[in-house]
Amino acid sequence: MTTVTERVGRPNGAEASTEIIRRLLAATSTRDNDVAAVIDDLGAEETAHVLFDEIIFRSRLQEVVPLPDGRTSLVLLLRHREHGQTATIAVGSKGLGVHDGSTEGTAPDGELPPPVVSQEMSEVAQALFGPRELVSAATRTIQWPGSEIIARSLGRVATPPSYYAVAQRVVRVLDRREPADLTELAVRCGTDKWGALHQYPQHYERHFAPLRDHRLTILEIGIGGYDDPEAGGASLRMWKHFFPRALIYGIDIVDKRPLDAPRLTTVTADQSKPEQLTAFAERHGPFDIVIDDGSHISQDVITTFRHLFPHVRPTGLYVIEDLHTAYWPGVFRGNDTDLSDPNYTVGFLKTLIDGLHHEEFLRSDAREPLATDTRIKGMHLYRNVAVIEKGPNAEGSPVADMLRAARNSGQ
Ligand SMILES: C[S@@+](CC[C@H](N)C(=O)[O-])C[C@H]1O[C@@H](n2cnc3c(N)ncnc32)[C@H](O)[C@@H]1O
Repeated sequence: MTTVTERVGRPNGAEASTEIIRRLLAATSTRDNDVAAVIDDLGAEETAHVLFDEIIFRSRLQEVVPLPDGRTSLVLLLRHREHGQTATIAVGSKGLGVHDGSTEGTAPDGELPPPVVSQEMSEVAQALFGPRELVSAATRTIQWPGSEIIARSLGRVATPPSYYAVAQRVVRVLDRREPADLTELAVRCGTDKWGALHQYPQHYERHFAPLRDHRLTILEIGIGGYDDPEAGGASLRMWKHFFPRALIYGIDIVDKRPLDAPRLTTVTADQSKPEQLTAFAERHGPFDIVIDDGSHISQDVITTFRHLFPHVRPTGLYVIEDLHTAYWPGVFRGNDTDLSDPNYTVGFLKTLIDGLHHEEFLRSDAREPLATDTRIKGMHLYRNVAVIEKGPNAEGSPVADMLRAARNSGQ
């Protein structure tokens, strides 16, 4: 029997784990790279811990209903060169436990020995972090304690569903088949993006689903939990589930570092301070998706857009949530009298809509050109939320050219 050691904390730390994932994302992005050589370089043990953490996160094993009086375990063996790194995952009435090493072939009285899922580490890294078309299970084996299961069935003792549920969830993650319904994830992760206050996920599905398997950098402003450094992070975890190959960043005015996890980094910054936004973006950008769910004060929202939109990739998305606050005086300092005032979020968005049509203006003095005029190709407005699509907007307008020429010649 192998000795079992309790894992205390995460051996790599969140930042080091994220760095390893960054390397694995690059290494697994094409078929041509030698992923095993990269694992040699990163260290097989360190890489295995990162992969175990990622598998456990994605499996959502907390949702498996445990046996009332026992545990369901699974041994995960990641093979690399002539060695193997093993973890035992156990789901019990007291929660989820992960141990280094394995109790292979053994089990307390009355418990079934755990199945052993074994796979090459490089193939697992490829499956978790590479493009979907490179996912493979060529080296995977699952060993079940067949004789014990048969003995049980002969004695008419049912094998509990949770025994299979743990293995099934882990295998589903290794096959990259975990379900990802954003509304369901929003509820499970505990963000208020879907519920009595907001119903955003159906819009996000439309815009984000095609990007789900891409390698992305995502930023959300506003981590949640307000003054409590340990509270919040629900939506960041939702994005981490939904985008398996993304690095997720969160900004909050409150220090939220206790929430840091592999692939999920928080940074303390005030969105009303341009220099803090720029310093952050220069270090961690460019971004594929930015979501502003921070103070919801129009002046901050506009400042943030002005300073972060240039750091969105050329075809990225910029989302502004809770537009209704622009109409609410008081805490949100909104304006309910002049609904087109460009100093308030909705009035500002109206100026961007004009910008979308900047090539159709007939008067040269119609309005000052904006830097965004040629860089926004789409605006999707839903109740309370805007999705702004970055992209080239300078294809010309032959009819406007004709009308302008006619005007100038006095026709
Ligand atoms: C609505 S919560 C975010 C909820 C989270 N995005 C979710 O969906 O689970 C808003 C967060 O914005 C943060 N915040 C408020 N003012 C801010 C500012 N000026 N800069 C950055 N963050 C701010 C608050 O501390 C709070 O945690």
